[in-house]
Amino acid sequence: MTTREQVLEALLGINDPTFNRPLADLNLIRDIMVKGGQVSLTVVLTDESEAASTRLREQVVSALKEAGAGDVHVRLRAATEHDREQLRRQNDPKQSLEDHQSKTKRTVGQNPASSRLLSPDSGVHYIAVASGKGGVGKSTVTVNLAVALARLGKKVGIIDADIYGFSVPDMMGIEERPETRDDKILPVERFGVKVISMGFFVEDNSPVIWRGPMLGKMLRHFFSAVEWGELEYILLDLPPGTGDVALDVHQLIPHSKEIIVTTPHATAAFVAARAGAMAKRTEHEILGVVENMSYYVDKTGEKAYIFGRGGGAKLAEELHTELLAQIPLGAPDNHISEPDFSPSVYKADTETGRIYAEVAARIVEKLEP
Ligand SMILES: Nc1ncnc2c1ncn2[C@@H]1O[C@H](COP(=O)(O)OP(=O)(O)OP(=O)(O)O)[C@@H](O)[C@H]1O
Ligand SMILES: [Mg+2]
Repeated sequence: MTTREQVLEALLGINDPTFNRPLADLNLIRDIMVKGGQVSLTVVLTDESEAASTRLREQVVSALKEAGAGDVHVRLRAATEHDREQLRRQNDPKQSLEDHQSKTKRTVGQNPASSRLLSPDSGVHYIAVASGKGGVGKSTVTVNLAVALARLGKKVGIIDADIYGFSVPDMMGIEERPETRDDKILPVERFGVKVISMGFFVEDNSPVIWRGPMLGKMLRHFFSAVEWGELEYILLDLPPGTGDVALDVHQLIPHSKEIIVTTPHATAAFVAARAGAMAKRTEHEILGVVENMSYYVDKTGEKAYIFGRGGGAKLAEELHTELLAQIPLGAPDNHISEPDFSPSVYKADTETGRIYAEVAARIVEKLEP
């Protein structure tokens, strides 16, 4: 255990006794420090009774130890009047909507087009693509689903919200950089999809070293500073895990829906369930599960389930949603000399391309009944 994000993730299952919602969601875990496996943090108490505080302390310590922490130091402090005021706002849906609106107004106030894009009645469907762990194919699914929606004639944008690990431009074979017009950034369009990514603003792949709060700022910037034009779908490629960015997305776009990606292995599905649980807590509707790298088709046409079997179906059942697709192993058949070369986009007339087309059609059916 090395990061603040991991600490918050480990504590997701612990609810505040008064509001019966996760402490982490209510911003009641503060001052997190992680050093050499040692974790120290403050829990803000809404119920100061001996019984409640003892129980919370025990829960926090045992969840962190279970997640691999060494020494755990928990400070407890009573919620201040200011904390309580914030909690009341957070838990009053009307108030939090007003907060949300004033927040968006503040950040994108100079830009009516963006606030329109973010407002729940903008008509834009937001789909965040999440997973419990890295490398399962979130970005691949985001990119191909976006392209498949565009092939259906939809106006689609991608926000590569993986600020550190951006990969969408490379995966789509985008080499150009966005142009600016009237101080606005124009997204790069590829395969009919408008793309914006941190990768466009970083020189020569140098690592991005901004910390926590920057992530949320960047995400807001992707709305306020970008001239998106008219869009019907915006897909967000989330970083792996259930950390800060997921919370930022929730704050900025509470009406976003989610797709959870997993591999067929039971353990992977178990980990992905955490992302699903996070979606549920933030009340993001889960559109379905995509199981990626499900099987390999060998030369005889036989399917080989090399990474196990059933993880996607099990996860979908657990999350009370549907299994949208099982996507086979195999890179796109694509040559660098082709004008529309891209390392990760499957062509429409391939088996995988057809599967993505089906998923896109299903999504449209669900969101535009
Ligand atoms: N169905 C597939 N068959 C073969 N390779 C795949 C498949 N899906 C994804 N990959 C490859 O697996 C790797 C990880 O995929 P991808 O980057 O989409 O995952 P991710 O979940 O976004 O990862 P990260 O957590 O690092 O953002 C990539 O190299 C990608 O090309
Ligand atoms: Mg990715």
